[in-house]
Amino acid sequence: MPSVTVPSVTVIDHPLVQHKLTIMRQVETHTQDFRRLLKEIAMLLAYEVTRDLPLKYESIETPLTQMQAPMLAADKKMVIVSILRAGQGLLDGMIELIPTAKVGHIGLYREPSTLTAVEYYLKLPVDVEQRDMLVVDPMLATGNSAVAAVDRLKEANPASIKFVCLLAAPEGIQHFHEQHPDVPIFTAAIDERLDDHGYIVPGLGDAGDRLYGTR
Ligand code: URA
Repeated sequence: MPSVTVPSVTVIDHPLVQHKLTIMRQVETHTQDFRRLLKEIAMLLAYEVTRDLPLKYESIETPLTQMQAPMLAADKKMVIVSILRAGQGLLDGMIELIPTAKVGHIGLYREPSTLTAVEYYLKLPVDVEQRDMLVVDPMLATGNSAVAAVDRLKEANPASIKFVCLLAAPEGIQHFHEQHPDVPIFTAAIDERLDDHGYIVPGLGDAGDRLYGTR
């Protein structure tokens, strides 16, 4: 029988994530709190996204005795790729929880009239082929940037790819999975829809502007 890839979306509905996300959505939440909350949520997302990491058992000594204790298998190396610029907000929290991960960056901007993604920057670790990749961007809106980023990142041939965001629109999930059914999506929430400008509704506004106070 031919194998069929079933696209997967995991909504991380942990109460702490949902509570922090609600505060981030509120229009009166200022940059300082928005940035801190995104970092905190990123750590909680990283916790769920890395749930399937393999463990190996090592012989260690506690103050009382010897035991076989689980540790991350050293061969399971990771790279976190931030889609600039808002991806930095998720990266900051994830790297704190996975400090051995290497970091890559991809720069894409949305062409305002067509909302298509144009690449202007790419830097990846040299050993990317041996690494499991987490691609991070807070907002999966039209999906154009995420699709373009993953198109390009697949050319680097990482061991695997997961896409991690904070909020997703149904339109973005559908577009992303039409193009990349093999890449699982992890998100804290799926919102109602996109507006005519490609913003997620109800959403939280422009994640980059809210993260850096540029508006
Ligand atoms: N990018 C954002 O920052 N916010 C949206 O709602 C959509 C895309």
